[in-house]
Amino acid sequence: TNQLPLKVMISGAPASGKGTQCELIVQKFGLVHISTGDLLRAEVSAGTEIGNKAKEFMNAGQLVPDEIVTAMVTARLSREDVKEKGWLLDGYPRSFSQAQSLEKLKIRPDVYVVLEVPDEILIDRCVGRRLDPVTRKIYHLKSFPPETKQIKARLVTRPDDTGEKVKSRLEIYKQNAKAISSTYSNIMKKIDGNRQKDIVFKDIESLLSQTQKDNMKSMEAG
Ligand code: AP5
Repeated sequence: TNQLPLKVMISGAPASGKGTQCELIVQKFGLVHISTGDLLRAEVSAGTEIGNKAKEFMNAGQLVPDEIVTAMVTARLSREDVKEKGWLLDGYPRSFSQAQSLEKLKIRPDVYVVLEVPDEILIDRCVGRRLDPVTRKIYHLKSFPPETKQIKARLVTRPDDTGEKVKSRLEIYKQNAKAISSTYSNIMKKIDGNRQKDIVFKDIESLLSQTQKDNMKSMEAG
């Protein structure tokens, strides 16, 4: 059938589970996942000009300057696959001015998902997080340990996942969250992210399926 591609934004504090849920959303809905954190980390490891500029901010747990990130995101959003498959924007906008940049370009999501998790849980999730540089999969030493010894041996820790830096990232998130959500208040859906990941996903899945149906209806209504 002819479906309008979905446009989804996912937001939430550091380690609220955005990346984890995005893996599941992509599997089910086939959207193009655009994670500014992943894009920036790829620039850093490739040693590009953007990467070299971004690196110090990221490692300190601070935001990378808007102009760098906004140029990166708008370039990615204008590619053909995004128009065909729809998009899932993760980690952007992260400030009021970033939200305004998208508004000016008339780029608006169908739904704005916010994952809610208590602070004390977030710290533990960051400190225990490990990434597989080969498959890009996200693990946690306690909650989601690697499947094999071979995978375990190659896992890496993010330089911004120390207790101190997580606190700074969390503060920055809180300072910006209200201003961003004011832009999307009419399409904002809060989801309790402090449950098992499959349970969290069930809620997101039904939300996105419903959004798809609503899109169809408004398309048919013209
Ligand atoms: P980014 O990569 O976006 O980091 P973040 O927002 O801090 O989010 P995280 O990646 O830490 O967490 P997540 O919510 O994806 O959680 P995850 O699924 O991994 O950004 C990094 C940096 O880049 C920023 O600090 C900034 O410098 C820069 N940057 C990025 N975007 C920018 C922008 N727009 N403007 C300026 N600068 C920007 O899960 C975390 C852990 O918890 C994992 O170990 C996972 O296994 C575990 N877990 C997940 N779900 C569950 C669950 N339900 N139960 C138990 N454990 C779980």
